[in-house]
Amino acid sequence: MTAIWSVDTERFYNNALKVIQNNQLMAVVKNNAYHYGLEFAVNQFLEAGINTFSTTSLREAIRIRQLAPNATIFLMNAVYEFDKVRDNQIQMTLPSLAFYYQHLEDLKGIEVHLEYENLLHRSGLKTIDEIREVLIHHRNDKSNEKVHITGLWTHFGYADEFDVPEYDIERKAWLTVVKNLLDEGYQFDMIHAQNSASYYREHGVFENHTHARVGIALYGSRPYATIDEKSIEQALTVKGNVIQVREVNEGDYCGYSFAFEATHNHTQLAVVDIGYGDGILKSRAKHEALINGKRYPIRALMMSHMFVEVDHHVHAQDEVLLYNNDIRIDEFTFKGVGANSEQLSAMNHDSLIKEYR
Ligand SMILES: Cc1ncc(COP(=O)(O)O)c(C=O)c1O
Repeated sequence: MTAIWSVDTERFYNNALKVIQNNQLMAVVKNNAYHYGLEFAVNQFLEAGINTFSTTSLREAIRIRQLAPNATIFLMNAVYEFDKVRDNQIQMTLPSLAFYYQHLEDLKGIEVHLEYENLLHRSGLKTIDEIREVLIHHRNDKSNEKVHITGLWTHFGYADEFDVPEYDIERKAWLTVVKNLLDEGYQFDMIHAQNSASYYREHGVFENHTHARVGIALYGSRPYATIDEKSIEQALTVKGNVIQVREVNEGDYCGYSFAFEATHNHTQLAVVDIGYGDGILKSRAKHEALINGKRYPIRALMMSHMFVEVDHHVHAQDEVLLYNNDIRIDEFTFKGVGANSEQLSAMNHDSLIKEYR
């Protein structure tokens, strides 16, 4: 008995089809494809019809090139290993005006996408005038070989937020930039902006855009709560096992440092073989686990164990589900446990057994 992290391959693939519908998506596969496994995810997405990928790490971008020789690969972080970028035909962000001027020589032969900073302030050209400056400088540069400007993009910082006006503000600012540049006659092979939340909020890809740049929905979690559960399905299961069920009485303190005090006699505590060392967040342990189709409260979280208060229907060796499609990651996101990607990223892939079914 060991705690398991497992993915239902068919469900993962079918979810990708559901998310894609008839749209052109760039699959975000950073952080080892949100920890689903880069190779697994790239192969599933290719099979589902996606041929454009983005990540933040050059190492991952090169790995994608090996897995998908014909794919379009976009590196969302600027890097300084220009030869590797060029040799692997990786397209890269242009993160600032200073970067453009400093690396004019280095960027020769590399395709870049001009990034618009907008409200996130993480990277990008600050204004449409900075974008124009690059475009005009590039047009006037008569060198034989120069950087290729093939894309225009931004990233929204507030698409997942509904109770503040910032998404509307950044959305409007971005769409104005795109419209003005297109009206001025500039052309781009790729224009992309939307993460999962924006893709669902807008019911598809923005006009004049070539792609939505989608991550979490492709990994089976809803970016916000009003999306129907059936339209995005979770293929991941994380589960432990009941090692034994122990009886404690009113006033007994259980776990380290008085973690849980039994409130009645004959309290049944299942000792389960999964804990924070396996990546279960403390905030997640304030909620329930699913055993034999019923939810039971988690009472204490330790490194390799947790206590779950159960009843006489639960026995040693029963499976204890922390996550599956009936007790989903996104449910806990909406309950404030942490972002979908945060819960996924916490998983310890060295201690959990990994399975693709
Ligand atoms: C630049 C960029 N684009 C797209 C995404 C995908 O976002 P999501 O997983 O919400 O779809 C991310 C993820 O953080 C990102 O950093």
